[in-house]
Amino acid sequence: MMNKLNILTFPDPRLRKKASPITVFDDNLKNFAQDMLFTMYEAKGIGLAATQVDFHKRLIVIDVSDEQDNPYFLVNPTYKVLDDAIEHFKEGCLSVPTYFEDIYRPKKIELTFQDLEGKQHIEIAEGIFSVCVQHEIDHLEGKLMVDYISPLKRDRIKNKLLRKKDDSPKN
Ligand code: NI
Repeated sequence: MMNKLNILTFPDPRLRKKASPITVFDDNLKNFAQDMLFTMYEAKGIGLAATQVDFHKRLIVIDVSDEQDNPYFLVNPTYKVLDDAIEHFKEGCLSVPTYFEDIYRPKKIELTFQDLEGKQHIEIAEGIFSVCVQHEIDHLEGKLMVDYISPLKRDRIKNKLLRKKDDSPKN
């Protein structure tokens, strides 16, 4: 049975917490990762960090495949930049719903992570996968896509999302 988790929305202060490393690779971790994946697919996202569902450990799920049948579970992920060339993508975020912004990031990275068994992997990431990895690792640091845009624009998005929250039915 998979559970749909609640996704926190900007400017919720819990999105600013820094996640701590995962040291226990048990069934709880696997079940929670599956819940995150399910939640991400339901929300039509391509990446979700544990921080976004109020779990402050270093866990990310990503699936950038067209068919959404190639999930990655990244535990304790880190990266180093391999190519200084900067690329920009229109990024979205499940915690900043309905907004898409041009964000500039390094193009090519070397990603190091553990899988759900604790085994370490190293992969070269480029294109949308690289963008997504960098975006999700930011979440684990309490950083959001809106931190890359102007304060004025950020405030406008914040106020609109807060207003949207007030309008939503309460039950
Ligand atoms: Ni995001």
